Amino acid sequence: MKKIINGLSVFLSGSDETKSIVFVHGFPFDHLMWQAQVEELSKENFCVTYDIRGLGESSVGDGQFTMEMFVDDLEKLIDELKITQPVLCGLSMGGYISLRVMERIQNKFSGLILCDTKSEADDNQGKLKRAAAVKQINTGDFENFIEAFVLNCFGEKFINKNNAEYRMVVERSKKNKPVGIKGCLLAMAGRTDTTTSLQKIKLPTLIICGSEDKLTPPNVMKPMAEQISNSEFILVSNAGHMTPIEYPQRVTSAIKEFLVKNNL
Ligand code: MLT
Repeated sequence: MKKIINGLSVFLSGSDETKSIVFVHGFPFDHLMWQAQVEELSKENFCVTYDIRGLGESSVGDGQFTMEMFVDDLEKLIDELKITQPVLCGLSMGGYISLRVMERIQNKFSGLILCDTKSEADDNQGKLKRAAAVKQINTGDFENFIEAFVLNCFGEKFINKNNAEYRMVVERSKKNKPVGIKGCLLAMAGRTDTTTSLQKIKLPTLIICGSEDKLTPPNVMKPMAEQISNSEFILVSNAGHMTPIEYPQRVTSAIKEFLVKNNL
């Protein structure tokens, strides 16, 4: 079922009498990146996915976004849906949002799943890369920006073996509006560093990382797991940055086991 909440397109699957999981997608993707997980997990859980402001079917508005707005959106969404103590699951940009959520409203959640993400903010080089991306889009080179960005997100094995699926994701990403994409790039460039708050995360936490992830590699994600006291780290062999799409069964099983183990 689809709902519009505060300009966001929100998708609900499963019974709302069961434990809720809220999924937050990465950039420049949309809620469909969690399709495989939702299909399986909604048999026993209430699965909530949504398109982040500016992306997918959600409102783009004036394209001026901040990480704080993305956190406000998520809080409003769970309040409107009246879901209590959901598990929060975010990938990459969705992970940046989730980590800031932990700083602001950790008490509203019961568990955390971080896929292919990091707590560090963009360094100078990272900020300049975002600026170059905005410039590239402003010069009308939007499609090439998306092609190159998405290419970097996937492991070589997936691209070769599942090329039709890979192309579908690329083409769907190109459907985003340039103004929404630029807004997200600037929101990511302006995000704060959440590293010092990792030790304050007390929720059971599952950390999933693709062994071939070029954007948030294992040597970035492992130290993050070490700082979260109640956390478990899972490495997905051969996967790039998009573990839930590249190895859907492995990721879904890891989530299922995590929920059971922690009584969530
Ligand atoms: C994502 O997958 O959300 C992006 O790679 C995040 C980023 O560009 O930092």
